[in-house]
Amino acid sequence: MSEWYIYQGIGRPDPARIEQLPDPPPWRAFDAEPVPYDVPALDSSTHRRLGARTVPLPVQDSDTLELVNAALYLRRPLLVTGDPGVGKSTLAHSIAYELGLGRVLEWPIVSRSELRDGLYSYDAIGRLQDAQLRRAAQEQREAGDGGPESEDIGRYIKLGPLGTALLAAGRPRVLLIDELDKSDIDLPNDLLNVLEEGRFAIPELERIADRTPVVEVLTDDGRRVAVTGGQVRCRAFPFVVLTSNREREFPAPLLRRCIPLDLKAPRAERLAALVQAHFGQDAHEANHDLVDRFTQAEADGALRPTDQLLNAIFLAQHAARDTTRREEISELLMQPLDRGPR
Ligand SMILES: Nc1ncnc2c1ncn2[C@@H]1O[C@H](COP(=O)(O)OP(=O)(O)OP(=O)(O)O)[C@@H](O)[C@H]1O
Ligand SMILES: [Mg+2]
Repeated sequence: MSEWYIYQGIGRPDPARIEQLPDPPPWRAFDAEPVPYDVPALDSSTHRRLGARTVPLPVQDSDTLELVNAALYLRRPLLVTGDPGVGKSTLAHSIAYELGLGRVLEWPIVSRSELRDGLYSYDAIGRLQDAQLRRAAQEQREAGDGGPESEDIGRYIKLGPLGTALLAAGRPRVLLIDELDKSDIDLPNDLLNVLEEGRFAIPELERIADRTPVVEVLTDDGRRVAVTGGQVRCRAFPFVVLTSNREREFPAPLLRRCIPLDLKAPRAERLAALVQAHFGQDAHEANHDLVDRFTQAEADGALRPTDQLLNAIFLAQHAARDTTRREEISELLMQPLDRGPR
């Protein structure tokens, strides 16, 4: 194991390691004033993906370790490409789990996704409706003595996963921008600037900053945080994982700013680690027939996601104790995604 690795891919938590991450290079140093914010612990989506058990085997290969750590040191997004089911999305969860970085912020990209969805949303209609209701109630009470309602615009603003990742936290958050290749043509370019500058503005708050400089808004974690002057600026640059199934190419300016990682399907020791993480220490040995069958797929060049093996082992444990039944199950579940050699 290389000494300089902060993320070690050992499949068990070692939160003290992130303290050893050196300062960023000067061109990636961000200096916003720290904002007090209590980062929530990992949620069930991380445990679901990683399995419930810690394993004594490495869960990543050496290329992955090198590049993840390069991205950590350089404060650059990691652009992970690879076939379906090789573990691209799970990589983000593994980093948050090992380094104790709290709940993973997830932004699943679809063709309609826009930069603004990741940064924040403003429920202008909800705010208008609430104001009308308040006014009506006040008229009914014929009060007029309470004075104007305080302008609580923050209740209608919610930071998205990217916006929340850019809060000035002391430790980096992990942000998964999943399946960026599904986006429309503009999103990768729009992302560039925010990822480069580590900041963005909320015009609705900037406009009232002279009257109300500090506004509490909701975060993607469902908590409240103070935003000053309508600006969100980062301190520890988040660990950003962009994933892609290579459905399309990205613009060169984005590629230039990312660390590219081509994730390979887990084999041998890594595959054993995944099986053990989900089913326990003995599971790999006990299911070697299914594992062998799965790994043989590599030889015929077919595309098979790891989930197929995990599903087959789960079913075999419950439904198929004899060899013929096990074979039937694996036949049924382990079909190449691309139906034949590529
Ligand atoms: N480090 C790991 N520990 C435990 N399980 C893992 C690990 N990495 C991947 N897996 C398992 O492998 C399966 C596939 O992983 P994942 O969903 O991350 O793949 P993907 O590359 O994002 O696929 P897709 O392109 O279809 O989104 C999941 O069931 C996940 O639980
Ligand atoms: Mg995925």
